[in-house]
Amino acid sequence: MLRHKIYKNFSSFLKMAKVKGQKEESMIWTEKYRPREFSEVLGHPEIVKRAKAFVQNQNMPHLLFSGPAGSGKTTLALIVAKKFFGPSWNENFLELNASDERGIDVVRRKVKSFARTKAFSGPFKIIFLDESDALTKEAQQALRRTMEIFTGTCRFILSCNISSKIIDPIQSRCSVFRFKLLDKKDTAKIIERIAKQEKFKINNKAIESLCDVSHGDLRRVINILQASASITKNIDENTIYEIIAEAKPADIKSILELALRGSFLDARNKLLDVMLKQGLSGLDIIKAVQREIWNLNIKEEEKLKLVEKCGETEFRLVEGSDDFIQLESLLASFILAKK
Ligand SMILES: Nc1ncnc2c1ncn2[C@@H]1O[C@H](COP(=O)(O)OP(=O)(O)OP(=O)(O)O)[C@@H](O)[C@H]1O
Ligand SMILES: [Mg+2]
Repeated sequence: MLRHKIYKNFSSFLKMAKVKGQKEESMIWTEKYRPREFSEVLGHPEIVKRAKAFVQNQNMPHLLFSGPAGSGKTTLALIVAKKFFGPSWNENFLELNASDERGIDVVRRKVKSFARTKAFSGPFKIIFLDESDALTKEAQQALRRTMEIFTGTCRFILSCNISSKIIDPIQSRCSVFRFKLLDKKDTAKIIERIAKQEKFKINNKAIESLCDVSHGDLRRVINILQASASITKNIDENTIYEIIAEAKPADIKSILELALRGSFLDARNKLLDVMLKQGLSGLDIIKAVQREIWNLNIKEEEKLKLVEKCGETEFRLVEGSDDFIQLESLLASFILAKK
């Protein structure tokens, strides 16, 4: 979550830099490759169809875009605004970030001054409230009134990651669009498109790892790609794992297999090696171990036991225990569980 926030802040910083006359080559890729047409938005065919219809009919209800990070919510809101208003979209579209603009007062003041004048073209203006799940319940109650007051001149598009954090009265005022995680096929399409345009090579294994580590978050995929391509023009699996500071699944798998075979010392040494060489924390390792358990060639019950042990160790690490001692004890418990 934290990493995601940093990426996002970095993106908006570079967006500003671009406004001040940055060249295409030095643009951040998430902006450079942000779809500008409905047809370029990957996944979500039903959502895109409905959004297109709003533009065609020049009318739309308030909308709530809900779904995981980097799945295209902001992108779609921007396309809707641009298509709705044409060249004058900037005057008719206000983007507010609920978590930056802490108090609802700021939001209300900005909304009020924006909504006071009539739309330049089109029947109403559009206000896009990003990260609206960061608003407190009280702020949401206030927003509910604001939405009602300005319905005549404005439509709201709210975006959030978790829709249950949005109070019911707001949800019932909006038409809810649920964005899904983008699948591997779509993620791979983006990667190949960018590779072609930026003229670098990326092998299939690297594409596969990128899909695995990003969990459908395209912002993350594109940021990792940009960082990798600045190091090498031949991206492989190792480049990806170097950038993201995550343990390579193959390394973790071999540590686990050594432990399950009973070679405690070998497993421990390999673990130490991976941790030190790649500068990984205990928590990084636990997450990777947890994921890799499902790929081991052992019985289902044994997998469950190991997962339970991981949970215990993770808890101790979060509480502040020593990383290496806890991981060693985890390896020991794997060996004992197998016996
Ligand atoms: N469906 C998609 N098709 C093509 N590109 C996408 C899609 N979704 C995201 N992207 C790429 O990822 C970047 C980030 O997407 P976007 O800002 O729309 O995410 P978001 O859903 O608003 O995420 P958040 O919840 O973090 O605000 C875009 O600039 C674009 O390059
Ligand atoms: Mg967004």
